[in-house]
Amino acid sequence: MSGNITFTMIKPKAIADGNMGNIIAKITQGGFNIKALKLTRLTKDQARKFYAVHSERPFFEGLVSFMSSGPIVAAILEKEDAVLNYRNYIGATNPADAAAGSIRALYGTSIEANAVHGSDSDENAVNEGAFFFSEFERF
Ligand code: RTP
Ligand code: MG
Repeated sequence: MSGNITFTMIKPKAIADGNMGNIIAKITQGGFNIKALKLTRLTKDQARKFYAVHSERPFFEGLVSFMSSGPIVAAILEKEDAVLNYRNYIGATNPADAAAGSIRALYGTSIEANAVHGSDSDENAVNEGAFFFSEFERF
């Protein structure tokens, strides 16, 4: 049985491009209930911690710099089968491969600046939500 919570971030380039509101509207239109949401900014250390699973990958330092380069929106979303449904809804990692109409196809500009993050498991959704929202256990 899959959980009904996932975690997302709107990445700095999508916010710098003026698409924060469009992406939040698109998330809501997809039937995801926004349980928590905030505009914040990651330090490099926080970005390193958040993406620690990728620390050995060649793109890690670039990703850390990018994710701490400007404000992001962090949000906890609720829907049935949230992790899988949201990953389908945002589209493939590379916006060039993302299905037409998906968030990454609409608002992503490169594999790195792919508009949004989406958790890849129920366990990570809970951990990532708790990373940004200390009150998460009440949701
Ligand atoms: P995310 O974690 O952001 O939802 O993305 P994802 O699961 O689709 O992709 P993942 O493999 O977890 O990669 C995390 C983020 O790293 C950047 N990336 N850059 N330059 C590259 O080859 C490369 N590959 C991945 C992307 O921003 C990706 O979202
Ligand atoms: Mg991932």
